[in-house]
Order: sequence, then C-alpha cells, then structure tokens
Amino acid sequence: MKFYVTTPIYYVNDIPHIGHAYTTVAADVLARYKRRQGFEVFFLTGTDEHGQKVYDAALARDKKPQEFVDELVLRFKAAWEKLNISNDDFIRTTEPRHKKVVRDIFSKLIAQGDIYKGEYEGLYCVTCENFVTESSLKEDLEGRKLCPVCGKETKTLKEETYFFKLSKYQDRLLRHIEENPDFILPVSRRNEIINFIKQGLRDLSVTRTAFSWGINLKEDPKHVVYVWFDALINYVSAAPDGFWPADVHLMGKEIVRFHAVTWPCMLMAADLPLPKTVFGHGWWTVEGKKMSKSVGNVVDPLALADQFGTDAVRYFLMREVPFGADGDFSMEAFKARYNSDLANDLGNLLHRTLNMIEKYCESKIQNPKSVRAGHCPAPTIQILNEETPKRVEEAMAKLQFSDALTAIWELISTANRYIEEEAPWKLAKENEERLKEVLFNLASALLTIAEQISPFMPETSAKMLEQLNISGGKIAGTIVKKGNPLFPRLEK
Ligand code: ME8
Ligand code: MG
Repeated sequence: MKFYVTTPIYYVNDIPHIGHAYTTVAADVLARYKRRQGFEVFFLTGTDEHGQKVYDAALARDKKPQEFVDELVLRFKAAWEKLNISNDDFIRTTEPRHKKVVRDIFSKLIAQGDIYKGEYEGLYCVTCENFVTESSLKEDLEGRKLCPVCGKETKTLKEETYFFKLSKYQDRLLRHIEENPDFILPVSRRNEIINFIKQGLRDLSVTRTAFSWGINLKEDPKHVVYVWFDALINYVSAAPDGFWPADVHLMGKEIVRFHAVTWPCMLMAADLPLPKTVFGHGWWTVEGKKMSKSVGNVVDPLALADQFGTDAVRYFLMREVPFGADGDFSMEAFKARYNSDLANDLGNLLHRTLNMIEKYCESKIQNPKSVRAGHCPAPTIQILNEETPKRVEEAMAKLQFSDALTAIWELISTANRYIEEEAPWKLAKENEERLKEVLFNLASALLTIAEQISPFMPETSAKMLEQLNISGGKIAGTIVKKGNPLFPRLEK
C-alpha cells in the first residue's frame, strides 16, 4: 500500500508565506494521516529554481544564480521544519538527479517527433512564467497588456524555440478526464479545464534562448528548457521506485492548468502513467486583499508560529476554510479561533477533565461498573466517540480537512457539554459510580480526540497523550499526569 502526495515546488526567490504554508500543511496532514493508516507514504515538496523570474531576481541582487538559489532554498527548508512538515524528500530543480530526467524526457520527445523546432512570437508573463494568448489578455487604461492571472504587464517575445505537440494529446486527455471523475478536483476546476481544452490546445513553446539559467538541451545547448516543463518533471524525477504515479498533486487553483493539461500531455508523450488526482485549492486573501509585497500585507507563518505555536497555525489553516474554496486571513479571525476552539474547547476539556480525575480519584481513571450505568440508550458522548474516527475518515477521503476537524470538534463540544450536564463536582458527593463512569467517558473521548488530531496537530496530540498517560488503549487503571494548559487564553 503506497501513497504519494506532492506540493508544488515553490519559486525559490519568494519568502515562504501562509499561501505556501497552506498547501504544504495540507499535504503534511494527508501524509501523516495515510502513514497512520498503514500506507507507505512518499511526501514530496521542493523548490523551483530555474527560469527567467529567478534569473532576473538574482541579477537584480548582483548574485550568481546558483549562489542565489543555494542561499534562498534554506528559507523554505527552515520554514517547513518550523511548521513540523514531515516531507520525505525535498527536490530542487538545480539538482543533477532532476536535470538528468528532464534531459532524458526531452530527448525522447524530440526523437519521437513530439517536440519540434520553430519560432515563438507572442506575449509572456514572467511572474507566472506563462505564455499568454492575445484572446485572454487584460488591458489597462493605458493599453498595457496584462496577464489575466496575476495582472502584471506581459512582455513580447520573439525567439527560436522548440514546441511540444500539446494539440496531439488533446482528445486523449479529454477522454481521460471524462472517464476519471477524480482526476481533477474540485468539480468546479474540472469543468473549467474541460472547457479550456474544448477550445483547442495549441502547441507549447518549451525552450527559451533569451537567457541561459536553466537546463540546457543535449541536442541544442543554447536552448534551456521552459521552466514549467522543467519543474513539472520534479514529481517523476524525485519519485522513488514504485511510487509513480502520484496519488495526489496539491496546489493552488492558479496553476491547475499546468498540472491538469500540460503535465498529463507530457506524461502521455513520455509513456508514463498519469497522476490519480490533481486538487486545486482556493486562494487566501488577507483582510480582503490579495497578499502582495507591494501592499505589505504578506503574512509570515513563522512569526505566527513563534507567537501562538506551530499547531495553532496548522489548525487555523486547515479549519478556517473548506479545502477548495477561497479564504481570508485576519489576525482577528486567527485569535478568535485560537481562543474559542483551542483555548476554550480543546485546552479546557483536557485540563478540567484531568483536574477532576486528580481531585476526585487520586489521578486514577477508575473502571466504571458499567460504562452505560443508568444510561439507556448510551449517552451521546459514547456514540460520538465511536463514530468520530469514521467521520474523519470520510472527510479525509474527500480531502475535506475542515470537515474532519469539525467532526473532531463536535466530540470536543459534546464532551464539554457532558461535563456541564453531569456536574461531576456534585456526583463526587452524591453518586460515586456515576462519577467514575463520567470521568471514564471523558478520558475515552480525550483519547479519541488526541488520536484524531494527530495528523493536524502532532505536537498537541503528543502532549495530550502524555498527560492522559494511557498505554496500549487500556483506559481504566491509568494514572493521569496533568500538565500545563495546552493553549493559554490570549488576552484581548
Ligand atoms: O507556481 N493562497 O510556484 P509559486 C493559497 N513554481 N495558496 C497559495 C497562495 C495563496 N495566496 N499563494 C501561494 C509556482 N500559494 C511554481 C509551481 S509546480 C511543478 C511549480 C501556494 O511559488 C499554492 O499552492 O508561485 C500555489 O499554487 C503555490 O503556492 C504557488 O507557488
Ligand atoms: Mg505564483
């Protein structure tokens, strides 16, 4: 049972922000979840280091491109370490292992006539590293031709190039998409891609000659491979034996077209199987505005993690918006979730439960006579406790991380309500059997919660398990070890 999940390889010259963190945390949650299910997981992330954008950025800082990227890649590696990302590998497109595969695929496609020489004349967006068609352009008031995706000004290129015969694979790709409803998710993105393909695919320029920062062709060394053609191959060049095709490529919606059109056509030409799912999630804005360096509203996930803890950041990103939809970040929303979901709901539940076990039962979880004593039917907390893992599983199968967390939080809220309803502080004076049962049920729920949140909040899960101190699933008889509150409440 193998499972292979990827993030995009991020442009190395950017500073890791919550957008990058979002996809990477999602991939991490999925990887951890699948590992726990017993899958042999390969989780890949990395950096996209070639192309005009990176080259221009290096020039602007008077750096040699290789030195420039060698410095910058450390920021991404440090960011993922801080966010507790469990990637199995980190691919850089400047690595020899990657360049070799790119050159081999390129040569095969030239040899079989799927790549041919010609001339490209048209518009190019350096920010998106994308060729822009006249028909999709946006124009501003001064008549400047703007990229429809990022809104930056495009430039005109006219250069000798090699073309990849995208058009040849159009029908096969459409058939594949139609026969495989899970190939492109969510459905809205699938429909967009189908419409796009039906308008007709044009052959794609896949080499550049205006600069030399890239993988040059064996056949014609003044050409470097177009950065997207180079970058997409990372998923294959880094895959260990037996792991291709990938199960899930995760990415933001703006690059689904590269992954759901260009990439599968490249794979078909190379005689390689297609990934099972390409999932395009939504975009984060910050207080309603697009995140951008010039606006100065880029949110640094590492500063957030320093202040509130890594797990609070992971939790917020996964919980706040349904995976697939756009979302908005604000400090207010972040703090509100922290206080209500983490401090009040989860943190309190653990703390007060262990407190009561300490106070009324000398820290020992007692074996109730019957876990359903006096209860027929079973109390909601028992039912939910049994159902939660199943609900989480159903949500995770659809990559609905937020739904999975909602299901876990239902158990948390139910447990908190159960405490209010049962009032163990009264039971301690009046009904010892019922007290044992209530505390046992709460400890069972906490064990389930700790287990279920572990892919999302690995450190919190470990701390909970440490405090609960339950070993081998045997709840009764355990001596709990109450610790500090997990999420101290933030002051206003
Ligand atoms: O496109 N909201 O790299 P990139 C949500 N190198 N996700 C966001 C985001 C936001 N505001 N901003 C960025 C590239 N992301 C190419 C990829 S893959 C073969 C090559 C995330 O640095 C999201 O995953 O521009 C998006 O697709 C990715 O970062 C773009 O990263
Ligand atoms: Mg981008």
